[in-house]
Amino acid sequence: MKKTDLSVEFCGVRFPNPFVLAAAPPTDSGDMIARGFDAGWGGAVVKTLGLEHVEVNLVSPMMAGLMYEDKNLIGLENIDLISDRDIVEVLKEVEDLKRRYPEQVLIVSMMASTEDEWKEIARRVQDAGADMIECSFSCPHGMPEKGMGSAVGQDAGLTYERAKWVAEAADIPVLIKLTPNVTDMCPIATKVKEAGAAGVTAINTVKGLLGFDLETFSPLPSVAGKSTEGGFSGPAIKPIALRFVADVAGRVGIPVAGVGGVVTWRDAAEFMLAGAGIVQVCTAVMRYGYDIIEELTEGLSLYLEEKGFSTPADLVGKGLTNLVSHESLSREYKVIASIDEDMCVGCGACVIACRDGGHQAIEFRGDVEAAGSVDDAGAATGAAFGEGRAGSGEEPDEGGVPIARIPVVDDEKCIGCGFCRTVCPVETCLTMKEREEPSP
Ligand SMILES: Cc1cc2nc3c(=O)[nH]c(=O)nc-3n(C[C@H](O)[C@H](O)[C@H](O)COP(=O)(O)O)c2cc1C
Repeated sequence: MKKTDLSVEFCGVRFPNPFVLAAAPPTDSGDMIARGFDAGWGGAVVKTLGLEHVEVNLVSPMMAGLMYEDKNLIGLENIDLISDRDIVEVLKEVEDLKRRYPEQVLIVSMMASTEDEWKEIARRVQDAGADMIECSFSCPHGMPEKGMGSAVGQDAGLTYERAKWVAEAADIPVLIKLTPNVTDMCPIATKVKEAGAAGVTAINTVKGLLGFDLETFSPLPSVAGKSTEGGFSGPAIKPIALRFVADVAGRVGIPVAGVGGVVTWRDAAEFMLAGAGIVQVCTAVMRYGYDIIEELTEGLSLYLEEKGFSTPADLVGKGLTNLVSHESLSREYKVIASIDEDMCVGCGACVIACRDGGHQAIEFRGDVEAAGSVDDAGAATGAAFGEGRAGSGEEPDEGGVPIARIPVVDDEKCIGCGFCRTVCPVETCLTMKEREEPSP
């Protein structure tokens, strides 16, 4: 079978595929990046470097995870800093990596303070053979206190000034990595464009406070009983990241490297639909390893083939024309909850959700019957019960779900909010169907 060519051009640089390791622990050494490249990553952003005199004093622990029910690590909070490695050593590794992996794209992330420092570090990174530079204007902890990181990316003027210094000093394309800890990223991304940088990376971590230890009252991660606000990443931040990518790609018109919460090829494809030309991944690589690249490339290849696209570039920005103002959304289109009783596991999640979070339109059949309002066709709606479900009471049917536990939708009351769909554990059981008649 002919494999889809996943190569893309981004800011004038050719990537073998659009998947790039984000600046973070998985890119803190040449050996680690080499393992990533061997696994198949199209590029890597070397963890943020500072000049020799910048003291990087790490704390431990520096990470804590957000779990939700049985979902392991839906989010990760870190109070890590930029790389504590010697810039000279790392740049030697960059030179070596470029020799060994000429096809893969090596981007070096960096952070500095004054004009001279920004220009010096840019030249040194470029001389080491990096293909691109990424400037972190976005780390939300540790660096802002020193006038760096998100202290720059939250200020359009500082962003413009520093992006211009680097764009002037470098001949290779410069990306500016922006912070989501702003109300609107567009004015800042516009300044990046005016400053002559090639593109924007969005997003860095979301500033957060993961939680508290209920025994010791220490915030998390607890460093000898104390903590500080940190950067939140992983699947939980994907909607925030997608929103910023779509905003910048759609309204500013500058190339965007998308990052934030990507785990699967589906997430990556969504970032491309929102306008990302390449997609970076950090937390999912830390959690599952470099080998997730296989699922990313195979899944994207098959998807492109199925859609009749010959290159990932065909996807970029394809979803943006469908992203409109709230006011422009159709008021004619109406949906209603519809339950496939053969798929129902009788968990009652939709009943609770509709009762306490919706419009009291879904009830257990047993309760409806007890109230005497189920018609002969079997349901309040006349649609929720199919053949072979005759009878009621608590006796289980062949599937083991008591008939009385099967939910019934009252289509007079259902406003089609869609909340019940989000809580149903069976994907094909509760779906939202278009109403044939406008709702009353
Ligand atoms: C432990 C850790 C360290 C990070 N270090 C850096 C860094 O040095 N420079 C940087 O620009 N971003 C850094 N990031 C942010 C990531 O590159 C990325 O923007 C963010 O985690 C969101 O992507 P994700 O949800 O795929 O993790 C770090 C993230 C984590 C979790």
